[in-house]
Amino acid sequence: MSKPARASDTPYPVEVESGKTYFWCACGQSKIQPFCDGSHKDTNFTPVKYEATESQKVFFCGCKLTESQPMCDGTHKETERVHQSLLFD
Ligand code: FES
Repeated sequence: MSKPARASDTPYPVEVESGKTYFWCACGQSKIQPFCDGSHKDTNFTPVKYEATESQKVFFCGCKLTESQPMCDGTHKETERVHQSLLFD
């Protein structure tokens, strides 16, 4: 697999806790999005570690195409248009 599965068309808002570590799903196949459940085992993807330095709401990427892993960088807006045009054109 060379491309991740598109888990969502929008980011996942999560209230993270200061001092906690999270593992963001990079393959898009996890059943507990946006976090890793081990589904990447047979892919060439590995989860991305995120350490919360403060308690706050953050937005983890759901489309899996962000350039700022594991956070949403807005890429989903452009890729959604491409995704929709592939489905409906
Ligand atoms: S959800 Fe992937 S860039 Fe926003």
